[in-house]
Amino acid sequence: MTDNAEIDEIKKLQKDINFHFYRYHVLDQPLISDYEYDTLIKRLRVLEAKHPEMVTSESPTQRIGALAADKFQKVAHPAPILSLANSFNNEDLSAWYDRIVKLDPKVSRSGFVLEPKIDGLTVVLRYEKGVLVQGATRGDGEIGEDVTANVRTIKSVPLKIPVVDGAKKAPDLLVVRGEVFILRDDFIKLNQALEEAGDKTYQNPRNTAAGSLRQLDPGLTSSRPLTILTYAIVQSSDPMPATQWELLHTLKDLGFPVSDLIEKVDSFNDVLKVTQRWIERRDSIPFEVDGVVIKLDDLRVADELGFVGKDPRGAIALKYPAREVTTILRDIGVNVGRTGVLTPYAIFEPVEVGGVTVSKATLHNFDFITDKDIRIQDRVLIKRAGDVIPYVIGPITDARTGNEKPYQMPKVCPSCGQEVEHLAGEVAWYCVNAACPAQLVRNLEHFVSRGAMDIVGMGIKIVEQFAETGMVKDIADLFLLKKEDLLGLEGYKDKKADNLIEAIQASKKQPLARLIIGLGIRGVGEVAAADLAEKFNDLSELSKATSLQLQQMEGFGPNTAEAIVDWFARPANQALVSKLKDVGVWPIASETSGPAKRWYLDGKTFVITGTLPTLSRDQAKELIELNGGKVTDSVSKKTDYLVLGENAGSKLEKALSLGIPQLSEEALRTLIADLEKANG
Ligand code: IVH
Repeated sequence: MTDNAEIDEIKKLQKDINFHFYRYHVLDQPLISDYEYDTLIKRLRVLEAKHPEMVTSESPTQRIGALAADKFQKVAHPAPILSLANSFNNEDLSAWYDRIVKLDPKVSRSGFVLEPKIDGLTVVLRYEKGVLVQGATRGDGEIGEDVTANVRTIKSVPLKIPVVDGAKKAPDLLVVRGEVFILRDDFIKLNQALEEAGDKTYQNPRNTAAGSLRQLDPGLTSSRPLTILTYAIVQSSDPMPATQWELLHTLKDLGFPVSDLIEKVDSFNDVLKVTQRWIERRDSIPFEVDGVVIKLDDLRVADELGFVGKDPRGAIALKYPAREVTTILRDIGVNVGRTGVLTPYAIFEPVEVGGVTVSKATLHNFDFITDKDIRIQDRVLIKRAGDVIPYVIGPITDARTGNEKPYQMPKVCPSCGQEVEHLAGEVAWYCVNAACPAQLVRNLEHFVSRGAMDIVGMGIKIVEQFAETGMVKDIADLFLLKKEDLLGLEGYKDKKADNLIEAIQASKKQPLARLIIGLGIRGVGEVAAADLAEKFNDLSELSKATSLQLQQMEGFGPNTAEAIVDWFARPANQALVSKLKDVGVWPIASETSGPAKRWYLDGKTFVITGTLPTLSRDQAKELIELNGGKVTDSVSKKTDYLVLGENAGSKLEKALSLGIPQLSEEALRTLIADLEKANG
């Protein structure tokens, strides 16, 4: 190939790649596959190496060209980079409107533009003759830091305008303002990758974006999934658009990414209506927003209104309740669950987060406290989003004073004082004392529940009273209760007491499998209990099973097998088993029939996604497995059905693309019932 032909090819490749880049990163409408794109880039790299004189700063190969710097240079902004006043409710908003309409009656004819208030950080982009020459942080609004090399690595930032042939040309001088941020999904992926690599994870998208942009090594910045949306023109050699709506469209026409959530309304009344809707859809936006920005559409009127301090009068932010706040961690408490698992929780100075005041949040498990190095008296970042229970993200280590104390996990159960235990390969710590009072209430609750002994009429209130008064110290004690005992309790009159005693006694006839479920052995649910009741004739036989023997049964791994053996090895549990026999709770498998395993769904593979109306994920899994089906985590060609609840995500998309049929919870039950009928 001749040099000239190669040079022409370079020019064409640079242009084509920039075009596809724009389609992909700004418009989100790629025309070619990633593979084809990579092939073009590879070819361009080869040719540019042969013709280095053709490598200009606008070449798509030059986004990550610069070397790491020692520190950032200062940049004076051409005009003040203003901030925004905040409002928190409709009254604040109305007060703002009343104020400005009084200052200038033209406000009432202006109309408004609503924009998402992106939770990122401001950057100021300077273009000379259409070429990006500088990117700067906001700094104090007058002087920022030169982060040009980093900004160039952000794929949705145009390096050159017009981005594609025939598109709008840039004014000779153009300074644009936008917000750099990370999409929620990209943030999750980034943290997953860091976790897999054994590296420290980031706390939230905003801090990560800010930290990444202020990296001295642009190579590092380029490995962060930063993106941008623009919303203001700081300076232009062309006349400024007359309205904000026009301005946003000008930016779009020039090839800048602009949010597609922007909305224009005519009256202030509509502002109030529309902002309400925006609040409701907060979670469906793919990036973090901390509010909505309301701007006067008429930019001349907005300009004339001037500003108060650094806040323009012609715009205001309606802030959403913060979902992440910091507070002081006063102490760490420990909860004991039904299976004896110990869960640490944070006790902190009460704070308002996501619209409610909270003073406690889960800490997941003890490893989490160690991994995040959370110390008592730390300032911690906590999050509460939607219906999610509040949780601790991590400590703000920069705020440490030296008075923080590392946490020591308890060696004994905080409720009964028995030593806590840990299974190899598991994060959880357990209290394995069946008589532990904290576990008693939860144990009783589980024992009497519908899935276990199904003792009708025994609710949580009465169970708590039994435990609190000491009337019942273990599940076997339930069968020793007499009518007189109940009459002393709140709400138990003659008939009700009779009924409950009757229900308790009647439950003695429940099949062995249900009794096994009721014991609450870790990992032993409906399916495992049914299998055990098929193999062992009573609790005494089961208590003699060895781990090896159990592991030979299908579906029994070492963890469940060990848990069973462990449970029966404890003296307290042995005493409980013989007490159950003494009080007449002694079902014999060969004499009763339990929820035996059925094979209607044999050979069928299910994936469960979303929130089902009545069944939990585990219960749905049990139902399927009890009927011989298999449940897996991800959708593939081998999936037969997708069991679908509300708020399903990517699994549904995948199933749709593979043409896999979907079942609601109801449809699943109908399917099983139909198969049952068909099989007699
Ligand atoms: S307009 C005069 N529009 O919020 C222009 N700001 O709390 C004032 N922000 O510093 C800013 N999204 O970093 C504007 N659509 C948006 C925004 C936005 C996010 C940030 C921006 C600003 C801060 C003020």
